[in-house]
Amino acid sequence: MEESLKTYEEYFSQAVEVRMRHYEKEGRLQHVMLSHQFSISLMEELFDIADHVKEMTRKPNGIEFLKSLLCHKKAMLYFTQPSTRTFLSFLTACQMVGMDTGEVRDPSLSSEYKGESQEDGVRVFSSYFDMIIMRDPKPGFCEYMAYLLDSTGRSVPIMNGGSGKDQHPTQALLDLYTMHRSFQKTGGIPKKRYAFVGDLLRGRAVRSSVMLLSQYKDVEMEFIAPSSFQIAADLEEYLLSQDVNIHKTDNLESVISSVDCIYMTRIQDEYDLSGESNLIDYSKYSLTPDNVSRMKKNSIILHPLPRRHEISPEVDADPRAMYWRQLRNGVYIRAALLLYVFNVAHRLKEY
Ligand code: NCD
Repeated sequence: MEESLKTYEEYFSQAVEVRMRHYEKEGRLQHVMLSHQFSISLMEELFDIADHVKEMTRKPNGIEFLKSLLCHKKAMLYFTQPSTRTFLSFLTACQMVGMDTGEVRDPSLSSEYKGESQEDGVRVFSSYFDMIIMRDPKPGFCEYMAYLLDSTGRSVPIMNGGSGKDQHPTQALLDLYTMHRSFQKTGGIPKKRYAFVGDLLRGRAVRSSVMLLSQYKDVEMEFIAPSSFQIAADLEEYLLSQDVNIHKTDNLESVISSVDCIYMTRIQDEYDLSGESNLIDYSKYSLTPDNVSRMKKNSIILHPLPRRHEISPEVDADPRAMYWRQLRNGVYIRAALLLYVFNVAHRLKEY
């Protein structure tokens, strides 16, 4: 191991390619930190496992069998940033494959209140649990925790459930799983036009999903946002280096009838420095039955949720609205990821 990097800022300032080296063990993902870690073939393997898991949960003996697969493992859910879906779907996924769980969601009720560092806290979790699933407001912090744990020689896999404005790799996986399932009859994910709408600068779900999607051939991406919330320069640079055909606009109406997928997002005003969200007329970045009626017949609408006003509830009944299905898919793909990381997915054949 190279000389130790003393702070997480120091660690996070290294290039992604350097950091990524720490997250694999014997040719297998050990820590799930970044969407860059998923190749198309790994994604397809996970989609396949998730399809099996989904199928098995329809029958009582399938449910029982799934529960036997990881009943010897325990996961710690350490979520210091608000969460409903990610927390609950990881919890449900753990229960589905038989894992026991522990949780800390409010650091004021843990020894952090007594002045214990997060680093020491995570080390405690690794002594009691076989995996840590974490969400933290600081970009790159869970990556640093994974790196530190590895250097203690008592490492357990860490999964990133959202790292500030930076990454949300399992959200990206469930987004692509939903695209994969939705486009099964229309040629799959490649060769389609995808629109991302809203606060594209600060939304980590978009950032991670776009990175994952950019691996597919001939996808076109439309980024629709007010200029102050357009995609970050580093993401644009990355997409151009991947030869993705990208367009930026602030006019949703100009693209709505030509795209195959619209990925909506809420304004991320928790990251405001001085009320900048209040300057935006978000109705221009919203879906209503009226503009949805101009979308292609086989197109889909995704949203990582929670939503505010950017999708009117009347749109929920439209067959193109996939966001409720998308959140259910999150449980199956996360269960698939648990089976993969603990290397028991091959046992599904026994069922
Ligand atoms: C997203 C998140 O937390 O980044 N939500 C989620 O995980 N489903 C999106 C958001 O909060 O807007």
